[in-house]
Amino acid sequence: MKTLHCKEFGPVENLVWEEVESPEPGEHEVVVSIKAAALNFPDFLIVQGLYQFKPELPFAPGNEGSGIIKKVGKSVTRFKEGDRVYFMAPWGAFAEEACMHEFGVMPIPDDISFELAASYQMAYGTSYHALVQRGEISNKDEILVLGASGGVGLAALDIAKAKGARVVAAVSTKEKAEICKEYGADELIIYGEGPKTKDESKAFSNELKSKSLKGGYDIIYDPIGDCYTEPAFRAIGWKGKYLVVGFAAGEIPKLPINLTLLKGASLVGVFWGTFTGLESEANQKNIAEINQLLSEGKIKPLISKEVPMENAVEAIKMIGNRGVIGKVVLVNK
Ligand SMILES: NC(=O)c1ccc[n+]([C@@H]2O[C@H](COP(=O)([O-])OP(=O)(O)OC[C@H]3O[C@@H](n4cnc5c(N)ncnc54)[C@H](OP(=O)(O)O)[C@@H]3O)[C@@H](O)[C@H]2O)c1
Repeated sequence: MKTLHCKEFGPVENLVWEEVESPEPGEHEVVVSIKAAALNFPDFLIVQGLYQFKPELPFAPGNEGSGIIKKVGKSVTRFKEGDRVYFMAPWGAFAEEACMHEFGVMPIPDDISFELAASYQMAYGTSYHALVQRGEISNKDEILVLGASGGVGLAALDIAKAKGARVVAAVSTKEKAEICKEYGADELIIYGEGPKTKDESKAFSNELKSKSLKGGYDIIYDPIGDCYTEPAFRAIGWKGKYLVVGFAAGEIPKLPINLTLLKGASLVGVFWGTFTGLESEANQKNIAEINQLLSEGKIKPLISKEVPMENAVEAIKMIGNRGVIGKVVLVNK
């Protein structure tokens, strides 16, 4: 089988698509013949050695995928050869096959394509957890989503609209704003490359505030950090919740802590991966609710691009170039 291999941490260009031996399942393991895998921001970081953990070399990046069970270990009870499945893994999805414990794999219904199955669970799982458990969203809320056309950002916009909230979507370009409009954003803000000077930061904050009917947001969803966070926090409303989701724009920002006091506001951390492990029942309930919204047509995960798996390097580069809209899915044909 072929796999994308990271042999040393460094630039994305160093990754190679090469032939390796097919994995054999251990007693409780299954081998999945991968049909589709979603691109996620950590794929860009992990191959450069910039992620929270560093896998042993060589490894294939890729956190989530879907496919068909090819082989099962002798004590596997939940699956058989030929079953259609979705999986999440710390790495290994950008390949033709992956081997994992049977509990890392979930069945997918026949009416959901491999591409769709691979594309939405992490992005929608993260944003659902962020808005529901951490933000305690209600239909009276006004929500600001930064980076609103990216993987988790667009999922947050989609879910918040499905929950009946008013949503202001902020993005860097007109093209990205158009997508957010299609996804029901009530107001749009285009921030270009972001505020650089003190005056630009103040003007950005004032622009954000001006789009809130309440003069400040109940929830702010922030997957980008860097120079966007402080001006956005200054646009929060009384008792607002600021959801810290990620730092796609680069720097982990610092915040004057008095800003929380002035608005009675909370800074709320979101870590979906840890939530899925520590509160697996709550996560299962979230996933069931997401699937229900999906089947009712109330949310619509966007796959903006499908890329052949062997061209994974080009796809991973898109993350660093701010080039991903919704989800990019890698496919083995
Ligand atoms: N906390 C959690 O549990 C959790 C779970 C999943 C993901 N995350 C984090 O959430 C963040 C977004 O992940 P994602 O998968 O949605 O990524 P993505 O699809 O690539 O979206 C990232 C967005 O960030 C914005 N951005 C601003 N500056 C950027 C830059 N210099 N380079 C790239 N993007 C930039 C872009 O929108 P604009 O161009 O419009 O600014 C882009 O749409 C990442 O930091 C990821 O690690 C956290």
